[in-house]
Amino acid sequence: MEHEFWHERWGDGRIGFHEGRPNTFLERHLAALGPARHVLVPLCGKAHDLAYLAQHGHTVLGVELSPIAAEAFFTEHGLEAERDTLGPYTRFRAGSITILAGDFFALTPALLAAAGGADALYDRAALVALPEAMRRDYVAHLRTLLGTGTPALVITFTYAQDLMEGPPFSVTPAELREHYAGADVSEVDSAMTDLGRLRQAGGAIERCYSIRL
Ligand SMILES: C[S@@+](CC[C@H](N)C(=O)[O-])C[C@H]1O[C@@H](n2cnc3c(N)ncnc32)[C@H](O)[C@@H]1O
Repeated sequence: MEHEFWHERWGDGRIGFHEGRPNTFLERHLAALGPARHVLVPLCGKAHDLAYLAQHGHTVLGVELSPIAAEAFFTEHGLEAERDTLGPYTRFRAGSITILAGDFFALTPALLAAAGGADALYDRAALVALPEAMRRDYVAHLRTLLGTGTPALVITFTYAQDLMEGPPFSVTPAELREHYAGADVSEVDSAMTDLGRLRQAGGAIERCYSIRL
């Protein structure tokens, strides 16, 4: 998607994807990430998941295009964030939570290391936020940043794509496994959801995968 699309959504407050509480699958399957990791959360929005991960002993690095979302996360959680610049990003930091405001695709291994590194991945509504061609680039990019053996939790939606235009886009289990070819992929949970725009498609299956890259 074009950056402007997301900036407009944040500017207008059209954020039906925002759950306003920790994701249920994250709560159920947090242990899959292991203890005290540096968790990379691409396309993080202002998800409560960032705070949930930090409350459970993880150091958290979110990357989010919208500075409105980054600022709102800290304000809404009563945290005063320090702000500086890291490469092309505005970096917001409070305690063990950092959000880099800017384009995830601009993140390089050097910038990631400068931001504290990452040895775990949490993706909720990030892969599915992107059209197909960008999804390939997104996972390929992720895999340049994270080492073999990195644990990941990835949460997707599956529905009949012809019933609705994304985002969120439908990602089938087969597509997910294609992106993560060579990794150890297990589907560990699923449930029906009609959050936000998914109502227009009559709902979707939300799936949670535990992956070891
Ligand atoms: C569907 S929302 C999901 C947000 C969050 N993961 C959640 O669960 O609430 C996708 C988010 O990705 C952000 N985004 C889209 N493209 C991006 C990019 N290239 N780099 C960083 N963030 C991006 C959008 O601004 C939006 O907040």
